[in-house]
Amino acid sequence: MTRTENPLNSLDDWEDDLLRRYPEASETGKSKQTEEFRSYVDAPDHVKEFYRLNHLQQTVEVNQQKRDEFLQFKKRRMSIWEAMEFLNTLVDDSDPDTSLSQIEHLMQTAEAIRADGHSRWFVLTGLIHDLGKILCLFDEPQWCVTGDTFPVGCRFDLSIVYHDFFRGNPDYHNPDYNSQFGIYEPNCGLRNVMLSWGHDEYMYNVCKPYLPDAGLAMIRYHSFYPWHNEGAYEYLMDDYDRQMLEYVKLFNPYDLYSKSDEPPDVEALRPYYEELISEYFPPRLDW
Ligand SMILES: [Fe+2]
Ligand SMILES: [Fe+2]
Repeated sequence: MTRTENPLNSLDDWEDDLLRRYPEASETGKSKQTEEFRSYVDAPDHVKEFYRLNHLQQTVEVNQQKRDEFLQFKKRRMSIWEAMEFLNTLVDDSDPDTSLSQIEHLMQTAEAIRADGHSRWFVLTGLIHDLGKILCLFDEPQWCVTGDTFPVGCRFDLSIVYHDFFRGNPDYHNPDYNSQFGIYEPNCGLRNVMLSWGHDEYMYNVCKPYLPDAGLAMIRYHSFYPWHNEGAYEYLMDDYDRQMLEYVKLFNPYDLYSKSDEPPDVEALRPYYEELISEYFPPRLDW
């Protein structure tokens, strides 16, 4: 895949940009004060280019194609642990000395949740929430794997980062898709809404038969910043979503949890996590 298609040095570049945009969001117990004024500072050029490619190409049509391709789960059959090791083979151009490996990020998230005494399913959710990034290893471009997510098929909310780039998206000009509700009914529930395609949506579908609803919501919506951090799309939500939003907000700081801390000892922790995985997942599953 060319550099033009994949402007990020590493998938972490987008997550670093989240920390820049939401500096307080990585602290548990604090959430964004919506009334607070913040002057917006541009992202670095390569990250901006990533947002541009994402906003240009995330359409209803592309979304449908990706679902048709990936939600058949015909790519691989492997255990959760094998998927973690597979994800770890993702080679980024970023400096290996300063960034955690993918397994380390997953384990660090899970360990922070565990340290706060949360339920086992919650710890497990932290462990696997980013496993959908294996889409990169199926040769998917970065704009189709990571970045903020948002509904497609209705008007792109103004709170979505670099909203202007949507002007280049064909759906922006399509009257079927560019009204407030587009193809949806008011308060139809986010379960019935197509979110832009990426590692979140893919992993949510992989986990659907196995995790409790709150864990599934944490996975599906963890990059849906316009919703869980900006308060947008109230008009598509139902009561169930309002319950799930609380869980997603609870999860968010752990995802952004300082990545500069000491890396976890993966081998020492492995037996604990293997057991936890086996409590919820079968030995092998389809990806
Ligand atoms: Fe993620
Ligand atoms: Fe993450």
